[in-house]
Amino acid sequence: MKKLPKLYTDFAKYYDKLESQYRDYALETRWLEKLLESHGCKNVIDISCGTGNHISGLVQSALKVDSKREFYAMDASEEMVQVASAKLRKLGSGSEVLLGDFLKMPLRQSSFDSAICMYWSLAGLSHEQVRALFSEVRSILKVAGLFVFDVENSEGIKENLLNEPFIDSFFDDEGKSVIRANLSRKIEPDLVDWHAYYLFEKGGVSELINDNMKLKFYSKSDLSRLLSESGFSISGVYSSPFIEYREHSPSIYFVAQKHE
Ligand SMILES: C[S@@+](CC[C@H](N)C(=O)[O-])C[C@H]1O[C@@H](n2cnc3c(N)ncnc32)[C@H](O)[C@@H]1O
Repeated sequence: MKKLPKLYTDFAKYYDKLESQYRDYALETRWLEKLLESHGCKNVIDISCGTGNHISGLVQSALKVDSKREFYAMDASEEMVQVASAKLRKLGSGSEVLLGDFLKMPLRQSSFDSAICMYWSLAGLSHEQVRALFSEVRSILKVAGLFVFDVENSEGIKENLLNEPFIDSFFDDEGKSVIRANLSRKIEPDLVDWHAYYLFEKGGVSELINDNMKLKFYSKSDLSRLLSESGFSISGVYSSPFIEYREHSPSIYFVAQKHE
């Protein structure tokens, strides 16, 4: 597997502080909950759970209504698995968080009613790898199983943020100041090279650590084709939770179902 960026490993402990400004996890979780409910899903796996925001949100709402739904999560980063596991333990949930690669799933075939893969987790994958991912997801789903994921939209690249450095985070970690600066450059029409510079400062001593990730942007038509070639039918395409797809939105959310 390709080396993961530090955002998902060394800095997993800061992930929520850095990234939750870009996501409405509560809204996404309500939307996912509605989809799982309307499809009668008895279990769900988050195959790239990160710090576990979606799965813990789903667990929390299930606890309120005494639901029997089962929750599973997986991530390729050990540090993310630790953060997500701690979040679930705090809720008193016995849900398991596995360490695993979604391109080589360590999971039983045809065992899930639904799988989710949220917040641009496909970002670094080529079309061939996306095809491999869809095939892996198909193999763990039961027939009619639901697959929900979102990607960055090639029509929605925020050109105004390219080539301009910007600081998006500044917070305190037990007396240590943490600052993140970003610089993104488009290196192909659908590929953005993102660099992050983390500056740490405590007691007048500073440290600078850099991070990098290639963000691939996908088109609605390419992914629709890959899904249908991989044995899925598409039940809905959205720009954000509850909002039907509109051109040029930054993200595309797909709701697909495994067919026979
Ligand atoms: C942008 S984060 C999204 C995390 C979470 N889904 C969220 O909404 O916050 C992408 C996640 O995908 C995980 N990931 C990347 N490649 C993976 C792979 N091959 N298998 C499983 N997880 C992977 C990363 O470790 C990271 O936690």
